[in-house]
Amino acid sequence: MLETNNELRTYRGAVAIITGGASGIGRALGEELAARGCEVVLADLQYEMAEEVAGKICAQGGKASAYALDVTDADAVERMLEQTFERCQRLDYMFNNAGIAVNGKFEDFELADWRKTIEINLMGVVHGIRAAHQYMSKQGFGHIVNTASLAGIFPWPTTIAYTATKHAIVGISTALRAEFAGAGIRVSVMCPGTILTPMIENGASPERWVGTYPREKLDSFFQGANGMAADVFAKKALDRIAKNRSIIVLPGSYKALWWINRMSPAMAIGLSQQIYKAIFKRISD
Ligand code: NAI
Repeated sequence: MLETNNELRTYRGAVAIITGGASGIGRALGEELAARGCEVVLADLQYEMAEEVAGKICAQGGKASAYALDVTDADAVERMLEQTFERCQRLDYMFNNAGIAVNGKFEDFELADWRKTIEINLMGVVHGIRAAHQYMSKQGFGHIVNTASLAGIFPWPTTIAYTATKHAIVGISTALRAEFAGAGIRVSVMCPGTILTPMIENGASPERWVGTYPREKLDSFFQGANGMAADVFAKKALDRIAKNRSIIVLPGSYKALWWINRMSPAMAIGLSQQIYKAIFKRISD
């Protein structure tokens, strides 16, 4: 039996929107949620890919649809929430997951790189939270899940605008968890380490870098990346979300870096300096 219409469902009979749902972590979350009985809306700039994923989910007996969305467009995000709520009469989960990474040295970042990263990774999440809050506060329940990164809980170098936005996402999520508690709205933040998705697979693409580095060195750097498979990440993350965990760090081994940063920020900065030097040594001429 499903719970009544006034409480959060985990996950059977629930409705979830996932931004960035066409690829990588978002796609894996969508597939796993659907397998657990949740209806999913896969919202993405890459609409055709989202449609393909939704089609596969439906062919396996799940409930899924695709939605063409640019998270930087606040009105479009609101329209999507309005339409989904009208159709489903509830919204259990809002996954603000779409994101991009631009890599390189601070001095090579143009203001345009900063603005693009902030618009997608930070304002995209803000738009999702604002729209979801309207509906979740009316229905009296809901769970907002934002995707930050290890770069949100550790001073990760070589991708400075990304690190800035991901720290912001952790701050927004933990502060809103406190603010929204009285309204029955849960807020969690996921901090993935390395997860094997197209973001990592295509990491060497020139458009993901500021500054110029030899392509073969970038290729070997990203091809050698050790990480967790996206489907494994999704399963473990959804188990933790069901337990209403606040900050979800996966793979668990990355908690060591988080712990170091909390116990000794000076030690974390020292480590970050070593990482910075090691990365640029590997990818430079
Ligand atoms: P991905 O590149 O496979 O997926 C990102 C999706 O977001 C793509 O489908 C893309 O079309 C969509 N997207 C980008 N800009 C958009 C926009 N303006 N509007 C709507 N959709 C847009 O990457 P991945 O790895 O699945 O990343 C998902 C999230 O996880 C991101 O926020 C990323 O920062 C975060 N993350 C990923 C890690 C990894 O190792 N893969 C590590 C830490 C965090």
